[in-house]
Amino acid sequence: MRKPFIAGNWKMNNTREAAKALVNALVPLVADVETVEMAVAPTFTCLQDVAELLRGTRIELSAQNISYAAKGAYTGEISADMLKDVGCTHAIIGHSERRQFFGETDEGVARRVRAALDNDIVPIVCIGESLAERESGKTFDVVLGQLVNGLASVKREEAARVVVAYEPVWAIGTGKTATPDQAQEVHAAIRAKLNELFGAEVGEAMRIQYGGSVKASNAKELLGQKDIDGALVGGASLVAEDFAAIIKAAI
Ligand code: PGA
Repeated sequence: MRKPFIAGNWKMNNTREAAKALVNALVPLVADVETVEMAVAPTFTCLQDVAELLRGTRIELSAQNISYAAKGAYTGEISADMLKDVGCTHAIIGHSERRQFFGETDEGVARRVRAALDNDIVPIVCIGESLAERESGKTFDVVLGQLVNGLASVKREEAARVVVAYEPVWAIGTGKTATPDQAQEVHAAIRAKLNELFGAEVGEAMRIQYGGSVKASNAKELLGQKDIDGALVGGASLVAEDFAAIIKAAI
């Protein structure tokens, strides 16, 4: 059985006070949740404050990015070591906004995944097609290509630690969610590829999150699909009640 995993990607929102208020509101709402893995991904500047508030709770801490390099002359980057130092256990890697606005490539994703795994940080590896790619029938080529390239350095024995997030770019922040059938179709293809890459035992144990306009109102139906094992939530994770409702939809 795969444990559902709901993560909140706060993106570039919240200064420290707002971040603390959001976590303080969230913690009691999900205090009794045991069967769903939960994480929040604040900006780098809020990680330390949020880490302190999450201590003793079941909510885990994720970064929104991670450097592929260990240390040194990489201005503006944050290493896996530094993330661990502030209490991060997870890192989002290759989010479509990083790919679209900051030039991240599959090769960079693969290097970041390596850095995360080498430092005991769980990589949440994002993949997804654009609207133009979907409309020209390239969804599976694009998504599976990003998957294979992004996980290129992952060994079979460590693959079960990796989380994949399927986020169709056309559904992110647009209010347009993939239908449960549309999402499941791609999740099933991702599952088949994971089975092929790592063997069925490992592939069946790996979690595949869906992301893109997940809300309390559509979460249950999406999470009810066979190969949807959780959600990566953007906008709705900025409101404690909404995020808690999505978490509860996964129970
Ligand atoms: P959204 O973002 O829920 O606001 O669509 C999802 C994501 O980008 O992770």
